[in-house]
Amino acid sequence: MPSYTVFGASRGIGLEFVRQFAEDKDNQVFAVVRNPNNTPLLAEAMKTFKHNNVRIVKGDLDDLTSIKAAAAEIGDATGGSLDYLINNGAYIYSEGGALISLPDYSSEKVLEDDLFNTFRTNVVGVVNTINTFLPLLRKSAIKKVITLSTGLADTDVIIRSRVTINPAYAVSKAAVNMVVAQFAGRLQEEDFTFIALAPRLVNTTTKPPTPEELAAFQDTVQKFLKHSPQWDGVPLTPEQSVTYMRQVIDKVGPKDSGAFLSQFGNKQWL
Ligand SMILES: NC(=O)c1ccc[n+]([C@@H]2O[C@H](COP(=O)([O-])OP(=O)(O)OC[C@H]3O[C@@H](n4cnc5c(N)ncnc54)[C@H](OP(=O)(O)O)[C@@H]3O)[C@@H](O)[C@H]2O)c1
Repeated sequence: MPSYTVFGASRGIGLEFVRQFAEDKDNQVFAVVRNPNNTPLLAEAMKTFKHNNVRIVKGDLDDLTSIKAAAAEIGDATGGSLDYLINNGAYIYSEGGALISLPDYSSEKVLEDDLFNTFRTNVVGVVNTINTFLPLLRKSAIKKVITLSTGLADTDVIIRSRVTINPAYAVSKAAVNMVVAQFAGRLQEEDFTFIALAPRLVNTTTKPPTPEELAAFQDTVQKFLKHSPQWDGVPLTPEQSVTYMRQVIDKVGPKDSGAFLSQFGNKQWL
């Protein structure tokens, strides 16, 4: 019975991972969310699942105690092991920094907060989660740890496309790619597979964009189209993205451990 833990499963890509994993009745799926009592999209999705194989677990990447409690609860349910850990949850959007670049913040304080907040969740949170779940993963024959990254963490993409908005987020995701490589290097002899996986541009919005957000998005799309002319300019749906990523997750093995891959399993981000 393969077991999957998805952090950040309340909505967007994380929720879609849960939905797809839940389709196989043999899978045991743990949907980790910050607020189990207030997760309307997941609660609604749970009503549509055919099998009784998804359990909602509380877990916040910013709170190590809650990560430890989640691992204990999941270990009790699986008999002490975990096959797949999906580090999907992330601090993505800050009011002060999402639409601007590093020199353009309204104040040094807003810039520092953005850097610390993204690093806290996207780097420290992921390191804490992997370390906490290692004992369960070690008991598995599969041992796959997938951490969601982004093509914006590829320095060549930034230099060539000049997409420099949401910089703190991009910096934190570049750092988490190194986290993945660090774990891969350290645990090479234990047959783990650690992968940083980018989902491509995916529409996970839950409300209409403001005019400023729309303008920034359109500008970003134009820059990406110049950099990647093969791209159709259309964001994927979560369903499409997760379908692609699952093919990569199935294919990778210990020899790939530490890699930073796109949804195609290579370096084509769009
Ligand atoms: N969408 C894209 O185009 C895109 C592109 C590249 C990479 N990615 C990556 O893909 C992943 C999912 O993105 P998405 O678009 O699905 O994002 P999203 O719709 O904004 O969802 C983010 C998820 O992360 C959770 N989360 C945030 N902070 C957390 C914390 N401290 N502890 C636990 N969970 C937390 C959120 O929970 P709450 O509901 O409680 O806030 C939510 O479930 C992220 O790692 C992102 O960086 C996305």
